[in-house]
Amino acid sequence: MGVYTPERRLTNADLTRLVDTSDEWIRTRTGMIERRIAEPHEAASDMAAKAAERAIADAGITKEEIDLIIVATITPDHAFPSTACVLQAKLGLTDIPAFDISAACSGFVYMMQVANHMLRAGDYRNVLIVSSEKLTSIVDWEDRSTCVLFGDAAGAFVLSKCSEPYVGILGNILGADGSCGYLLKLPAGGSVMPASYETVVNSQHCLKMAGKEVFKVAVRTMSDCCRRLLEKCNISPDEVKCVIPHQANLRIIDAVARHLGIPLEKFCINLQNYGNTSSATIPNCMKEAYDQGRFKAGDLVLLTAFGGGFTWGATLIRWK
Ligand code: ACO
Repeated sequence: MGVYTPERRLTNADLTRLVDTSDEWIRTRTGMIERRIAEPHEAASDMAAKAAERAIADAGITKEEIDLIIVATITPDHAFPSTACVLQAKLGLTDIPAFDISAACSGFVYMMQVANHMLRAGDYRNVLIVSSEKLTSIVDWEDRSTCVLFGDAAGAFVLSKCSEPYVGILGNILGADGSCGYLLKLPAGGSVMPASYETVVNSQHCLKMAGKEVFKVAVRTMSDCCRRLLEKCNISPDEVKCVIPHQANLRIIDAVARHLGIPLEKFCINLQNYGNTSSATIPNCMKEAYDQGRFKAGDLVLLTAFGGGFTWGATLIRWK
């Protein structure tokens, strides 16, 4: 596992100088205290490369042993080439396949399922999966309902083929509901609304979210898919050592814990320091939890996410 978070911090106090908000509102409604902000010259691929290099070193392999790169991001360097291709070049690799996944905040669990199946199909040995998000590049700094929520980060894992049964990824569940896509979206810049003077003036290149509606569906879908995944794997909630949830809001995590009947203490939480970094929250939080000794070899770790699309998913891992 490897993580990169930019040095620059944006605190709740800093945000009160940008929009009509308060430290108290942000803390009580979200749990957030500060978030990290990438430098203007830092692209998603730059953050991805730093996280990837750390993950490759942590895996104890050489970068030449990577045989597939997948990147999840909603803030790609460009619409094309893919950020995975840009990353491949930045890592000094050639020939190996590289592609992006678009599943917003669920990108990491989507990518895990894709990598898992590609490894199990037998064609690959070491897959580099990277979430990298420069959300501050798509935030509307005049919209207090969204600008207080997001930050920048990258997280990477190397997933390797393993012949032992009952370790590693034990199961995944993914889901989506495209009919709700309009509740959380980046309206302009695609073929529906190409960039124009009007789209720029009207902040249509910035993220829009109907927070309340998103909140309810996030709680329901994350709880449902975790419950279904545990049943599918024949694991009881008590057996789970820790849960790594998407870090969108402390109140969402609290509600998911209650719905699942898993104590909140088992949920790893670091949104107070980083805000919502979309698909990068899970690898960032999981690496931190591991470094803090929250799980070790043999433990069951449950990952769950929800994001734009709508998309959602869960992954159950027995740590090796
Ligand atoms: N500071 C002060 N007041 C604010 C702020 C702010 N930053 N933002 C909104 N308010 C006000 C609103 O204007 C509203 O005022 P009103 O009652 O006078 O109209 C009031 O606070 C309540 O607003 P709500 O939107 O109802 O607040 P809520 O309690 O729902 O919290 C939040 C908002 C934090 C966004 C919450 O709804 C949430 O976390 N939603 C889910 C986010 C999420 O999970 N996103 C998915 C992943 S993101 C992705 O995929 C990219």
